[in-house]
Amino acid sequence: MPTLNRLSPWQRRLAPLALLLAGTLAHADDRARAETAVKDLGQQLRAALVARMQAEGPVAAIDFCHDQAPLIAAEVASKHGVRIGRTSVRTRSPGNAPTAWQQAVLVDFDAQARAGKPPQELRFASGEALPDGVALRYMQGIPTEAACLACHGQTLAEPVALAIKARYPDDAATGFSEGQLRGAFWVEVPEGAAPDTRTVIPMSAAQREELRAQMRAHLESVQTILAALAAADWDAVKKAAGSFGPGQGPAHRFREALPEGWFTFARPMHQAMRAIVDEASIEQRSAQVVAELANATAQCTACHASFRIESN
Ligand code: HEC
Ligand code: HEC
Repeated sequence: MPTLNRLSPWQRRLAPLALLLAGTLAHADDRARAETAVKDLGQQLRAALVARMQAEGPVAAIDFCHDQAPLIAAEVASKHGVRIGRTSVRTRSPGNAPTAWQQAVLVDFDAQARAGKPPQELRFASGEALPDGVALRYMQGIPTEAACLACHGQTLAEPVALAIKARYPDDAATGFSEGQLRGAFWVEVPEGAAPDTRTVIPMSAAQREELRAQMRAHLESVQTILAALAAADWDAVKKAAGSFGPGQGPAHRFREALPEGWFTFARPMHQAMRAIVDEASIEQRSAQVVAELANATAQCTACHASFRIESN
């Protein structure tokens, strides 16, 4: 790095600008991390809630929210290396009560929402005047949707109201109507590089080499399926998706090194590939195959975000 003295006069004049720009870029990075974490938390909470509501109804879903919502938030926090949660001016759980800075943003969000801004478009980000160790604070509005009214609406079914009262004696999170601001996600991004929070899987060098070869074969299969789909070559689609099937060839030596959590990604990926084989054999609808490919590749990226390998 040249020192400032060795720079030409115009370079010296630009130096502060470069520093400012670097600061802005770091801020953009932090903001992207906060937004990704919010998206992840929102999707996970929604998926868990919908599944539980459909399977067992709202009363069981309340117990589930009580036990699981904080755990899901903690998992998302450690995955993205941030502090994250949900809050509101009217909370159900005292654990979600706003801190002073969150309260100030909520009041501002509320004013903007009353002035007609859709709650999901409300954003706050600040990199200024933060406590030590915090690089960015971020908040994002959460709208009340029809699906929320069973537990946050104007009138609740008797068993739902009772279950809420039992769990949350100080509940203030009812009386909302569709489209209203329900609350907000909040994030604090710490200073310093994003920590690598993926779980390490130890393996021998030989096991790792075999795993990587299989991974490259996976990517090749995905490419082959896409190319075959573009050419409407259904035999080739079937063959490439079929090559994902477990039990092809000799047992892989890396298998014994894999933790149980691995299969929460691997299994649905294989299921999606089997669905593609079926689709290619019978109905041959491209849109269905694309949708299943999206399901399969979502497992690729989710697993890559969760695990890394170390070998000696
Ligand atoms: C089955 C009932 C149920 C449904 C449906 C439901 N919630 Fe909740 N909600 C809860 C419970 C229980 C909590 C408290 C969770 C905890 O203990 O952290 C909660 C908490 C929240 C919080 C955190 C702030 C607070 O009040 O504690 C927000 C924000 C929220 N819900 C938004 C929503 C939105 C948006 C929807 C619809 C997409 C929704 N909820 C649907 C039961 C429900
Ligand atoms: C269940 C977990 C999991 C799933 C599912 C998964 N991968 Fe991987 N993949 C890994 C891990 C872990 C590595 C890192 C291997 C290493 O560094 O030794 C990796 C590495 C790779 C690599 C790099 C290979 C190399 O030579 O270094 C590619 C390419 C890849 N995966 C593609 C895919 C594709 C495409 C899919 C989905 C069709 C997929 N993976 C699904 C866990 C997974």
